[in-house]
Amino acid sequence: KEAKLWGGRFEEGVSETVERFTESISFDKELYRHDIMGSKAHANMLAKQGLMDNSDRDKILEGLSEIERLIESGEFKWRVDREDVHMNIEAALTDMIGEPAKKLHTARSRNDQVQTDFRLWCRDAIDMIIPCIIHLQVALVTLALKNEGVIILGNTHMKRAQPVLLRHHLLEYVEQLEHDVRRLVDCRARLNFCPLGACALAGTGLPIDRFMTAEELGFSAPMRNSIDAVSDRDFVMEFLSVNSTIAAHLSRLGEEWVLWASEEYGFITISDFVSTGSSIMPQNKNPDPMELVLGKSAKVIGDLVTLLTLCKGLPPSYNRDLQEDKEPVFDSIKIIMRMLEVSIEFAHNISFNKERIYKALPAGHLDATTLADYLVKKELMDNTDRDKILEGLSEIERLIESGEFEWMVDREDAHVNIKAALTDVIGEPAKKLHTARIQNDQVQTDFRLWCHDAIDRIVP
Ligand code: ARG
Repeated sequence: KEAKLWGGRFEEGVSETVERFTESISFDKELYRHDIMGSKAHANMLAKQGLMDNSDRDKILEGLSEIERLIESGEFKWRVDREDVHMNIEAALTDMIGEPAKKLHTARSRNDQVQTDFRLWCRDAIDMIIPCIIHLQVALVTLALKNEGVIILGNTHMKRAQPVLLRHHLLEYVEQLEHDVRRLVDCRARLNFCPLGACALAGTGLPIDRFMTAEELGFSAPMRNSIDAVSDRDFVMEFLSVNSTIAAHLSRLGEEWVLWASEEYGFITISDFVSTGSSIMPQNKNPDPMELVLGKSAKVIGDLVTLLTLCKGLPPSYNRDLQEDKEPVFDSIKIIMRMLEVSIEFAHNISFNKERIYKALPAGHLDATTLADYLVKKELMDNTDRDKILEGLSEIERLIESGEFEWMVDREDAHVNIKAALTDVIGEPAKKLHTARIQNDQVQTDFRLWCHDAIDRIVP
């Protein structure tokens, strides 16, 4: 049996049970390209700093390229007894070029190495997901353009509410996805720092150049704290929480399309290309891909929870537990890519049934709000009303803060409590305050302001 790379002080080999339990090669081989990239940058830096001579460096660079070729052609033999991707590649390099390979691990530990690989991998994954989201946005905009003038019933509480342009409705999803793109861009910028040089946790006394490796690998800069460099998995939690948000968005879209494809709604027809059938009911043509978008979102959210649970009680620096961070990430990204791809294909393969959409419009007093608006316009708020309202609101605030305000459960929520109290205090004019407003936009406004304040409290 081959001695382990870390086997110097060990007299006996490790048991097979332990080997099988502790290996990560079965999943972390996914990192091979980034591991090789990182090793090449590291070798270049060692040579430039005089820690390795140029002929060794050249052999290492050539050997690593050959290993990459072997992996990609399927000829490389991954070995469980070589534990993980880092040791598989390094040991194979030693098999190939001999002694010089051993110098590659100068001023490096697997702890900073794995973090470097993982950050590079996540960066690439983000660069893959963003264009996919943009394609879905394009598909949705295309649907909106194809149905420019179509009016559809807009719901709140799943009840007929107000008519809206179908275009407007579809663009809601485009906006949500835009938030996700921005989150990914932020996440990418925050993870793009280089852990190399942190070594096990405490850096090295050797004269390395961390800026050189950071730059060669396209990172913004080296990480500032070496313990943080081997310990931090925030970038993973952040990435997986963005993925979970994307999953939640796609899941809402999926739910609507499943409903709209039902006989009850019949708003959309899906082409055979993106539907599946039932083995018992010959009449069935089902929107299964979108149902599975809902279903698979559960896994994406689960992956985030795995990561949070994994990290929540860990002591600082590297702990072997952290090896378990890879699979949820690989899983989450694989699923989110497929969810996006299938949603794109679905969007390109549905058509809207104007007849069914218009048939639904007349029922349910959809124009009631427009009529109410018309009546309101006749009696808009004047400046004296406004002054009474402002004064009344200040008084209510004072009462709340002094504890004299009586919150009433039968007035349901904060909005109604305040509005009703205002009517108690100033009478008629209070009622005009609710012109062109409903609790739906009001609560969202309040909640954003509240979160804004909360952030301003947490940051300091
Ligand atoms: N396979 C390990 C991981 O993914 C690499 C780092 C191992 N480091 C160590 N000191 N055992 O986390």
